[in-house]
Amino acid sequence: MTTILGIESSCDETAAAVVIDGRVIASNVVASQIDLHAQYGGVFPEAASRAHIEAITYVVDQALRDAGIRPSKLDAIAVTRGPGLVGSLLVGVNYAKGMALATGKPLLGINHLEGHVYALWLTEPYKEVKFPVVVLIVSGGHTELLLMRDHGDYQRLGGTIDDAAGEAFDKVGRLLGLPFPGGPNIERASLQGNASAFDFPRSRLENPFDFSFSGLKTAVMREVTVAPSAGARSKSRREAAEAGAPPDKSIVLRSDISVNDVAASFQRAVVSILVEKTAKAAKDYNATEVLITGGVSANQHLRQQMRAQTDLVVRVPPLNLCTDNAAMIAAAAYYRYQSGLRSDLDLDVRPMWALTSTTYQEG
Ligand code: KG4
Ligand code: ZN
Repeated sequence: MTTILGIESSCDETAAAVVIDGRVIASNVVASQIDLHAQYGGVFPEAASRAHIEAITYVVDQALRDAGIRPSKLDAIAVTRGPGLVGSLLVGVNYAKGMALATGKPLLGINHLEGHVYALWLTEPYKEVKFPVVVLIVSGGHTELLLMRDHGDYQRLGGTIDDAAGEAFDKVGRLLGLPFPGGPNIERASLQGNASAFDFPRSRLENPFDFSFSGLKTAVMREVTVAPSAGARSKSRREAAEAGAPPDKSIVLRSDISVNDVAASFQRAVVSILVEKTAKAAKDYNATEVLITGGVSANQHLRQQMRAQTDLVVRVPPLNLCTDNAAMIAAAAYYRYQSGLRSDLDLDVRPMWALTSTTYQEG
């Protein structure tokens, strides 16, 4: 039996979890910073790092207490090394290093995207995943389409060339005056809206497995706002919105449109892009299953459409494991632990860190 403590602090959740054999969650604690960042309309990195520092000791202690385990009984300590916000990552990595030094337990620096992938191994009841599988990672920071041939064996088929899918949800949510984060709130608004009210354009890209959501966001902006009279002021409004500023009261929504209709039409557009490309990848690469993970995989419309568009098994994590958590980091760490990964105590953070088959060979 291998018991691993996972620690996650790459963005705006401080999380710790204890997972046994990469499959069984003994504890899973997440301290969310959503309320803190809602006032800024998005994640404010400075505030995120400070909140991680305040929460991490309590979160890790709680995870160990919930699991009923002392640090001396752990087999390893795993921590998200990247990708993510540098200041946030540093808090988790330094804490994990301190614990590893104090307990003498092995330290494993884990890729956050690989963590999202292994959230799929925490589903109960679990049926063995049959490789090769196509994996779609859709979160606030990432949109990645991968072919996974075995544990740790990834081929990147494509990804976003601008905004991540979750980021597009968040930006459009802000534009529509919905609370942060936009994803769940757009999903809620969509339930009351007409998804065919608007036909938003989609970009054509050279690589059929790449994504672009920035044009879609701009199209929504054009469609729903009143054209401002002063040219200079309108530009600054647009830039503020694109830079991720909080809900801008100076952006005036057209009075004749329904926010619910825009939300539903936008959600339909994003989901159809994600589903179409993932289904094509699964077909082209003869995948046996489709795995969707990351915050946006909580979206019910995405889940339904993906299942409707393919005969293959479609797996999504339980809702609480779609968004950032540490159980997924401990689950990914289990497979890495088995294959011999051990990190040094001078482990550094990697704010930009792609997930490929050689991810862990680069030192
Ligand atoms: O995986 P995650 O917690 O953080 C990152 O690693 O980025 O994902 C957060 C993202 C946010 O952009 C949020 O709006 C989106 O996931 N999200 C959703 C839903 N729930 C969360 N997007 C669409 N529909 C949802 N139900
Ligand atoms: Zn994430």
